[in-house]
Amino acid sequence: MTLVQHHDDLIATAAAIALPGKGLLAADESTPTIGKRLAGVGVENNEAMRRAYRSLLVTTDGLADFISGVILYEETLFQDADDGLPMVEHLQKRGLIPGIKVDMGVQPLAGGCAGETWCTGLAGLQDRAARYYARGARFAKWRAVLRISEAGAPSELAIRENAWGLARYARTVQEEGLVPIVEPEILMDGDHAIETTAARQEAVLKAVYAALAENGVLLEGSLLKPSMTTAGASHHALQSPRQVGRITVQTLKRAVPAAVPGILFLSGGLGEEEASVYLDAINREGRRSPWHLGFSYGRALQQSCLKHWHGSDVAAGQAALLARARANSEASLGAYQPGSQPSDGDSLFVAGYSY
Ligand code: 13P
Repeated sequence: MTLVQHHDDLIATAAAIALPGKGLLAADESTPTIGKRLAGVGVENNEAMRRAYRSLLVTTDGLADFISGVILYEETLFQDADDGLPMVEHLQKRGLIPGIKVDMGVQPLAGGCAGETWCTGLAGLQDRAARYYARGARFAKWRAVLRISEAGAPSELAIRENAWGLARYARTVQEEGLVPIVEPEILMDGDHAIETTAARQEAVLKAVYAALAENGVLLEGSLLKPSMTTAGASHHALQSPRQVGRITVQTLKRAVPAAVPGILFLSGGLGEEEASVYLDAINREGRRSPWHLGFSYGRALQQSCLKHWHGSDVAAGQAALLARARANSEASLGAYQPGSQPSDGDSLFVAGYSY
């Protein structure tokens, strides 16, 4: 197929994902990464337990009140839930749009600064995208990772390589009818100030949108998934939610075209409540911005769910998931009352987190 054939559907899908009060549940952890999350609650990482946990997620009634779609890992897209029905069918039945992580992880960037990476997965992507579409996926995710360091990261090389990879991916999956979620994550690792993040992120986003333009990506049929503009995780000074809201919106306004319908933040290691409070502050600041400012959280939507489930208690896990989904839905409208929903107090920051 071609992008032109999918033009109207891409725009309609992107708009449906970015509806007011909605966001995405990122449940696309690779098998090693979900293993770490399961180990955190004492559950073995085998196919049966991954199926059980993800069955819990996709069978949560009422989730569609707050969530428009769910990002899956390939295993889950083709897997049946505990009751024998395909996971995708559960999502579709509940009005949730299935999505799929299509990158194949990051590799060290030769010639870059220490710790810099590039994102793999372009080879064979168009065929995979066609297969995912046929199975019911309607959007895709590709996570490029950048870091800020005293050694000079993000280097010009890392910015260009990762921007180009995102653009090639976005164009390729649009040809097959999948809305690309463009994710240039800037890791929270480091002790830099929020102003440093803002300057680096602005440069990264401008490079990303220049590359998307060069590749003829249909912006109206795409979504951005950035990290919030925050200080490094080990920065000495406290940042207020208002400051995060103000600087995040400023950075986005300087770099993201108004044609993009929605910006769905990742949580990146923020705690559950923190991720909601910051999103709320961003929406209060960005009321008149051109985009829907929502969420696409992994850790910040799943931590208390995992803990309450603990390998067996499905009802408790689903209640915890719904509570955080509701909190983030309200935050995406700038209407969240801090502390009004239960949350897990754990720090979710992991140095150099991989997905
Ligand atoms: P976190 O919200 O856990 O950062 O994950 C979102 C995601 O999908 C990262 O690629």
